[in-house]
Amino acid sequence: MTKFKDLIQRSAVVKGRSIFSLFDETDRVAQFSARSGDMFFDFSKTNLDQDTMDALLALIDSADVPSRRDAMFSGVKINETEDRAVLHTALRNLDGGPVMVDGADVMPGILETLDRMRGFADKVRADDITDVVNIGIGGSDLGPAMAVRALSPYHDGPRTHFVSNVDGAHISDTLRGLDATTTLVIVASKTFTTIETMTNARTARAWMKQNGGDPSRQFAALSTAEDKTADFGIDPRQVFGFEDWVGGRYSVWGPIGLSLMIAVGPRGFYAFLRGAQSMDRHFCAASPRENMPMLLALVGIWHNQICGYATRAVLPYDQRLGLLPDYLQQLEMESNGKSTQIDGSSVPYNTGPVVWGAAGTNGQHAFYQLIHQGTRVIPCEFLIAANGHEPDLTHHHKLLVANCLAQSEALMRGRSLSEASELMAARGLTGSELERQARHRLFPGNRPSTTLAYPLLDPFTLGQIIALYEHRIFVEGIILGINSYDQWGVELGKELATSLQPVIEGTQPPTGKDGSTAALVDFIALHAD
Ligand code: F6P
Repeated sequence: MTKFKDLIQRSAVVKGRSIFSLFDETDRVAQFSARSGDMFFDFSKTNLDQDTMDALLALIDSADVPSRRDAMFSGVKINETEDRAVLHTALRNLDGGPVMVDGADVMPGILETLDRMRGFADKVRADDITDVVNIGIGGSDLGPAMAVRALSPYHDGPRTHFVSNVDGAHISDTLRGLDATTTLVIVASKTFTTIETMTNARTARAWMKQNGGDPSRQFAALSTAEDKTADFGIDPRQVFGFEDWVGGRYSVWGPIGLSLMIAVGPRGFYAFLRGAQSMDRHFCAASPRENMPMLLALVGIWHNQICGYATRAVLPYDQRLGLLPDYLQQLEMESNGKSTQIDGSSVPYNTGPVVWGAAGTNGQHAFYQLIHQGTRVIPCEFLIAANGHEPDLTHHHKLLVANCLAQSEALMRGRSLSEASELMAARGLTGSELERQARHRLFPGNRPSTTLAYPLLDPFTLGQIIALYEHRIFVEGIILGINSYDQWGVELGKELATSLQPVIEGTQPPTGKDGSTAALVDFIALHAD
C-alpha cells in the first residue's frame, strides 16, 4: 500500500461531508488560509478538517521537504536523472548570498548577465525598434508570453509578439504587417536545437533579409548553447547565456525573460524578480502550517492523489492572466507527469493532475456547467485582484470580483432538491413535472475550491504568484518521490517526428511504420499539392 493509505481511508469518510457545515467552527478561515506579504490564500472551501490537515502536514516531514528545499536552493544536483542543480531561484537571488555549483559561486555570472540584459533592453527601448518578435516554444515562449500579457498595463516598450508553433501560419500571421527594418527578433531556445524554433528563426531571418532588415544587427539569442548561436550568425554581444541548471519551464526569470524586460522596462522586470524572491523567502522561512507553497501542494495532493479528482481547473478572474492556465499546464504537467520514482521504481499512485482552465468570467459561459453539475468533481483554483488597472471602470472590476466569489460559493453550497422544488413551485409547476424540472436545477454543491487574492496584478505580485506555483510543484514532486525537473516524456515524439520527416517529404518509404501511420502518410501524400 502507498504512503497515502491512511489518508485515502480517511477521505472515504470526509469526502462526502458538507464543506458548508465545516464553517460552523468559527475560526475555520483563520485555520485554513495563509498569507505571504499582501497575498491571501484561502483553502477553507475544501473538505479538509484539522485532523486531515495534520495528517497531510506529516507528509512534509516524512518526505523531508525542508531539507530537499534547502538542497535545491543551495545548488545540490537534485535533478538526478540529468545530474543537474535546479537553480531558477538563483536568478532572482538579487541581494542574497553566494550560491555554489561544483565549487563555484554562480551569482556573479547571473548578475552580470542581468546587467547586460538591462543595458540591451534600455538600448532597444530607446532605439527605433517598433516590434519585438520572440521565437521560442514551451518554456522559451509560455513564460514571457504569459507575463507580457499579464503586465500589459506596465508595457511601455515596443510591441511584443510571440511565435512558437512550427505551423507556418504562426510566423506568417505574425510577420505580416511588421516592418523588417524596425523589428528585433529574439531567438529563445535553451538548447538552440528545437526544431520548431530553429525553423521559425530561419524563416524570420530570410524574411528580414528580403525586406531590407539586417539580421546581424536585429537578431538576439537567449540560450545555453553559445556555440550554436554563433553558428547561426548572431552577434555575441546580443547573446544572453544561461546555465543548464535553469529548467526551460522555470526560465522566465533570466535571459528568457528578455522580451518581458524590453516590454515593461528593467525596473518592472526587477520588481517581478523581487516578487519571486519574496515568495522564495516565505517558502524557506514559514512553518509548514503557514507556508503557502506547502499548503497549496498539500491541497493538491489531497484532491488528486487522495480524493482521486484527476483534473485541476485554474480560473484567474483576470483577462490578462488568460495564459496562466497554459503556462501552469506546462509547469505542472511537464514537471510532475511522471511514472517512475527517483529510485527507478514505478510510482504506485497517480502523479500530476491534468491542469486546465481559462480566465473568468468567460469560462462561466463555456465549461462551468460541467464544473457545477457534471458527474466528476473538479477542484477549482480561483485567482482575483482586489483592484483592476482601469480607474474609469471600477464597476467592471466589482462585477468581476462578485462573479469570482459567487462561483466558489455556488460550488460549495449547491442547491438542494427542496430549494429547486420551491423555485419550480413558485413558477406554478406541480406534481411529477415539478419534480422532473427541479431535478435539472439541482446543484450537488460540496465542490472544493481555493482562492488566491491579492491587491493588484503588478510585476511584484506576478513574480510572487509564479514562484508560489513553482514551489508548490516542487513540494508535490518531493512528496510523490519523483524528479520534477527532467522531461524524458517529450523525447520519443521528437525522435519519431525526425524519422517521419523524410517519409512525409516523399524521399523515404514508410518502412517499419504501423498500418495506421502508413495509411495516414498515404492519405497526406495523395492530397498534398
Ligand atoms: O520539448 C519540451 C521542451 O524541452 C521544454 O521542456 C522546453 O521548454 C521546450 O522544449 C523548448 O526547449 P528549448 O528552450 O531548448 O528550445
